[in-house]
Amino acid sequence: MKILVVGGGGREHAIIWKLSQSKQVEKIYCAPGNAGIAKIAECVDIGVMEFDKLIAFAKEKQVGLVVVAPDDPLVAGAVDAMEAAGLRVFGPRKNAAILEGSKAFSKDFMKKYHIPTAAYENFDSPEEAISYLETVKFPIVLKADGLALGKGVLICNTLEEAKAGVKAIMMDKQFGAAGNRLVIEEFLVGREVSVLSFVDGKTIKVMSSAQDHKRAKDGDQGLNTGGMGTFSPSPFYTKELDNYCMEHIYQPTVDAIRAEGREFKGVIFFGLILTEDGPKVLEYNARFGDPETQVVLPRMKNDLVEVFEACINGTLDKIELQFEDNAAVCVILASDGYPEHYKKGCAITGLEAFYGKDGYYVFHAGTKTMDGNIVTNGGRVLGVTAKGEDLKQARANAYAATEWVQFENKYMRHDIGKAIEDM
Ligand code: AMP
Ligand code: GLY
Repeated sequence: MKILVVGGGGREHAIIWKLSQSKQVEKIYCAPGNAGIAKIAECVDIGVMEFDKLIAFAKEKQVGLVVVAPDDPLVAGAVDAMEAAGLRVFGPRKNAAILEGSKAFSKDFMKKYHIPTAAYENFDSPEEAISYLETVKFPIVLKADGLALGKGVLICNTLEEAKAGVKAIMMDKQFGAAGNRLVIEEFLVGREVSVLSFVDGKTIKVMSSAQDHKRAKDGDQGLNTGGMGTFSPSPFYTKELDNYCMEHIYQPTVDAIRAEGREFKGVIFFGLILTEDGPKVLEYNARFGDPETQVVLPRMKNDLVEVFEACINGTLDKIELQFEDNAAVCVILASDGYPEHYKKGCAITGLEAFYGKDGYYVFHAGTKTMDGNIVTNGGRVLGVTAKGEDLKQARANAYAATEWVQFENKYMRHDIGKAIEDM
């Protein structure tokens, strides 16, 4: 089978690496891909939002399966357009991807179906949002309704900060149209866990858990980023918790979205927070998480093509997901200055150290080929993942491997997964 994967970051590299292990795969294309993906797939210069070009390409190459990985095209209806053109696609349609595309929708949805989440109110007018803020306890959380590259969430400690936040999101439109509506929600305290799952419309199967590190600097300081590193599994996510979430969060979500006439097929990513009152949903994503995917897929034993097919065919109940009884840690190598200003175009050396090394992976996030050399091309450059028999060993292995690669302004956090060692 020929497969087209839409996207071009570390997540897509990990997905393509995993797909390439399947005996069913004859050839993989990736649009637009990156320099690392180009080693295992044929990259084509089509953007993720260029639906007509993606469809024409997939038809010309007689692609048997299209995988739409990023949020923007999913929320904008890439799957609907591709299906209408007769393609077989893995990913939710627009009416289901709204679980991620609109925070106001997802909050109302959780409330309606009694899925545990933070208390909240939705606002269409900045004046009403501000009067409401006069009545709340701080800290409080402001969330732009739409997609904002993971940056549309502000945690405000004072009324002044919150008012400035409402102005930035709703009036100055710092995140564009994503800020036309605003969710104001209760601040929750607890450990965060990411749980990715496969869904076929009715059945949901969860993957091994993971934890992201969103802040740029050690000790969870600095600005929010797309994610600076992950580990899997989370030792805080117990079997008991998994059973509880299946009963109160996962299956109810799948049943409810179906009851709304918005059948979900694809990956649901549950951003959970483990509070004193039990686990609550911080957010839904309608896709694989990044960099969570870079630690979860290397530990998965199943053939990913089979799992994708089962989701599309509605036969996921026949699949038993299996994960290795080990751990993985991913450390993101970024360009110093990320997520603000940073240099691009710096030569990367040492990548060949990963070739043929079992249990070590280098997934490319922001790289490209220039004059035959691989150079940096984004804030997050590489994801270095290593497995180990436990989290401590995986962590030691991953940090050792971060030394194999060099580029100017290489920056990383040094405490990915450290909390587990300190336990
Ligand atoms: P989200 O995009 O909704 O996952 O929010 C991004 C990050 O903001 C989360 O990973 C949390 O660290 C934080 N966050 C979001 N909502 C809340 C909340 N209600 N209470 C505390 N922290 C939150
Ligand atoms: N790691 C968080 C996300 O993919 O949104």
